Amino acid sequence: MEKLVIHGGNRLTGEVEISGAKNAAVAIIPATLLAQDVCRIENIPNISDVITMEHILKNMGARIRYINKHTIEIDTKPVNSYIVPHEMTKKLRASYYLIGALLGRYNRAKVSLPGGCDFGVRPIDLHIKGFELLGATATVENAMINASADHLTGSAVYMDKVSVGATINVMLAAVKARGLTIIENAAKEPHIVDLANFLNAMGADVRGAGTDVIKIHGVNELHGCTYSIIPDQIEAGTYMVAAAATHGDVLIKNVIPKHLESISAKLIECGAEVIEYDDAVRVIGAETFRHCNLKTMPHPGFPTDMQPQMSVILTIAQGTSLVSEGVWDNRFRYIDQLIRMGANVQVDGKIAVIQGVEELTGAPVRADDLRAGAAMIIAGLIARGTTEVENIIYIDRGYEDYVEKLRDLGADIYRKEIHDDTPRTGAAS
Ligand code: EPZ
Repeated sequence: MEKLVIHGGNRLTGEVEISGAKNAAVAIIPATLLAQDVCRIENIPNISDVITMEHILKNMGARIRYINKHTIEIDTKPVNSYIVPHEMTKKLRASYYLIGALLGRYNRAKVSLPGGCDFGVRPIDLHIKGFELLGATATVENAMINASADHLTGSAVYMDKVSVGATINVMLAAVKARGLTIIENAAKEPHIVDLANFLNAMGADVRGAGTDVIKIHGVNELHGCTYSIIPDQIEAGTYMVAAAATHGDVLIKNVIPKHLESISAKLIECGAEVIEYDDAVRVIGAETFRHCNLKTMPHPGFPTDMQPQMSVILTIAQGTSLVSEGVWDNRFRYIDQLIRMGANVQVDGKIAVIQGVEELTGAPVRADDLRAGAAMIIAGLIARGTTEVENIIYIDRGYEDYVEKLRDLGADIYRKEIHDDTPRTGAAS
């Protein structure tokens, strides 16, 4: 087990290269099950969520060739099961994409309910509603989702709430269904568009991804393809916030600036400078930050996955800021950790009121989930003194080589082994 040790106060300067998008990769890898062929996937991020998903496919019989650190070839011809057990799915929420992919391949899927970051209730009713509208029966027994159909038939699927996962799962099940599927009130995140482009590269007919309405004409067969995953919008946004918060000057490379518009706008509102290039953004931090209000929304609104990171800047901004979490029921658990570092925040349900303070001070804190962990790192980078972050296994799930990338930018951060030194005595403690 490891923790991070961060000595705060260094400005981040220089250049950082963004990796492939985690939330696209964890959808595209299961999508390879829709063809009995070989898919070559490039710009895949080297993070534990992706490695876990690769292991699940290998456990199902797929052959994976590792061409280099960011390129794999997946051959799903040998896959011979529609069952995915608990020990494989418990580590990864995105494992539920296997239901849509296996339905598309076998008209059958039996997948253990997923794990994943805990921000309160994470229902899957919209996923099940979509599968049923396509003609499947879907039941939950013994924490397994059991879905089956004689065949899948295209249908109109209206999403009561905008849901990334449900949109993706219905896309996966619909690409080989008979006839036309129309997903209305669809999620529009960049990774939805990336999955649609991947499916079309495999021979599917998906139109309208990135808008509220996605139309899918079912096809009989899909084939292998070569595809390069888009840059990670949230990793890029995290480095943008870290650059600004440390009053730094960083060129963030291999990005799609259009995906970052809401983050750039919010940083500029707080006083930072953001300069856009074709495939990079330069972020220059302000000496002092203005307070601002933040409401997270589905894309193209401000991403919920950037809420903890942006809140760190607001803890040292001048004045009072209001942060409203528009997607998850309980995504403020990390605030307790920021309060340990001297932040002045009141949370009431889905609203946090942040009163800016002069500075944060280093403290032992923990990561409660992936993006909360990223926020703890940013807080440690700007705090006076030393911060230690535990539970960094969460951060390893979604940020490739983040310690090395931050050290290259001038951060004083390193991993430290945690030895469990509790005395091994017989006496009850
Ligand atoms: C995806 O989660 C992302 N995970 C999350 O990112 C992200 O926070 C979220 O989308 C929103 O952008 C992956 O892509 C692997 P949703 P997902 O379905 O699909 C409700 C990260 O840090 N809902 O869009 O699970 C749900 O409760 C992770 O990378 C239903 O009510 O999110 C929530 O309030 C954390 N019924 C809202 O919709 C359903 O059947 C949005 O959830 C499904 C969802």
